[in-house]
Amino acid sequence: MSKHNDELFKQVVSHAKEYGFVFPSSEIYDGLSAVYDYGQLGAELKNNLKTYWWKSMVQMHENIVGIDSAIFMHPKVWKASGHVDGFNDPMIDNKDSKKRYRADQLIEDKIARYQKDGKTEKAEALQQEMDAALEGDNLAALKEIIEKHEIVCPVSGTRNWTDVRQFNLMFATRMGAMAEGSDEVYLRPETAQGIFVNFLNVQKSGRMKIPFGIAQIGKAFRNEVIARQFIMRMREFEQMEMQFFVKPGTEMEWYAYWKEARLKWHKAMGIPAEKYRYHDHSKLAHYANAAVDIEFDFPFGFKEVEGIHSRTDFDLSQHQEHSGKKLQYFDSEMNQNYVPYVIETSIGLDRLFLLTLCSAYEEQDLSTDERTDSRTVLHIHPALAPVKAAILPLTKKDGLPEKAREIMNRLKVDHYVQYDEKDSIGKRYRRQDAIGTPFCITIDHQTLEDQMVTIRHRDSMEQERVAIADLDRMIADLVSWKNLLS
Ligand code: GAP
Repeated sequence: MSKHNDELFKQVVSHAKEYGFVFPSSEIYDGLSAVYDYGQLGAELKNNLKTYWWKSMVQMHENIVGIDSAIFMHPKVWKASGHVDGFNDPMIDNKDSKKRYRADQLIEDKIARYQKDGKTEKAEALQQEMDAALEGDNLAALKEIIEKHEIVCPVSGTRNWTDVRQFNLMFATRMGAMAEGSDEVYLRPETAQGIFVNFLNVQKSGRMKIPFGIAQIGKAFRNEVIARQFIMRMREFEQMEMQFFVKPGTEMEWYAYWKEARLKWHKAMGIPAEKYRYHDHSKLAHYANAAVDIEFDFPFGFKEVEGIHSRTDFDLSQHQEHSGKKLQYFDSEMNQNYVPYVIETSIGLDRLFLLTLCSAYEEQDLSTDERTDSRTVLHIHPALAPVKAAILPLTKKDGLPEKAREIMNRLKVDHYVQYDEKDSIGKRYRRQDAIGTPFCITIDHQTLEDQMVTIRHRDSMEQERVAIADLDRMIADLVSWKNLLS
């Protein structure tokens, strides 16, 4: 991370806390590693991001429906899905610092250092060595690489390593009132399996015809060995996933469709195209026949935000085998039963949230020849902004607060709006800029005479006089989902 971006990232993290977007979990007890709470504005922004996804994926597609499955699932689900045996990270401990690391990430950091030092060939060779070791699940080879390249513990600075071991990322807990004799259940590590096990329920009750999709938004839990970069890698996070069931043989067509559609969805938020890129997977998971990540240019570099995977018939076939229940679709055109193939789109809500904050955050210098001035502004798309409008009486007297409350009471039925009468109007504008409020509505003495207010636009800072009678329609138009979903 360059110094500039490092600084920007720190500013975004502290801004998120200062203005009530994100807090460390249980902060009064010094926090809980890689767990975060969303504050009063964070919860609003998160809800708006969910709505944007839900509207575009479910409401805008006649052949996609949404569900909300439970976090706890039968333990056999995770055996069938491969998570019990294969959802592991290779980990290594440093005996001096007692710190635990993901072996592959230690090696990746070394590759990045080689690249930074201009040792491109060495970096490429190391990448190949690591890929081969990971592909063959060769833990001894990973340890050898760490030793050969003299990788040291970032904390102790020593090379006193344990062997590399597999570490399952699922959290387990016990179900039932009595701990003894009760069954072990897992906190789901992805929401996708809740969709697969409900495939037939939804298909039959919704009379769905292939191709069709099932979407859901929900919490997922992973005992990440190392958690870093704020809400980027958490132990409790939220996913927005959609499984699209297709006729076998048509999956590559649909894969191409969703790959393009999902990137278009991201760009519609008004974020410059160059901030995104695809990363096609060359090494595929055993169940996939194509996979791509949509990566975003965070202040710490390009990182995955969303994955699009062609998962073949792996999941449904596995559940069919492990449950003994048929999970097939009768295709009336072909007069044939088959296990559908699946294209998955899976986006991390918390990463989307971080992406939104990072791309929206700007420190603007507004200095003129006469005076120095600046503001911190969040350029969040109006449809996604936590607060849509601030209602600001110019003074606390002369009937202005009453008029402002009257306007507020009308607007709050449809929009989340804030009333603020404290401090100078300039300070109040700055406070709203800092939380991304797109419109400030000022009520002044003239308002009482002509029933007009001033609307100040966040990004341009331009002001216009508007009739109170037109306010409802105007705000509704400006923050409409239509501006994102056309
Ligand atoms: N069902 C497929 C699946 O879960 P994944 O690539 O492991 O695939 C999908 O996860 C998305 O979930 C990622 O692209 C990322 O945005 C998000 N995600 C995964 N692990 C995460 C974590 N520990 N913290 C925050 N988001 C995470």
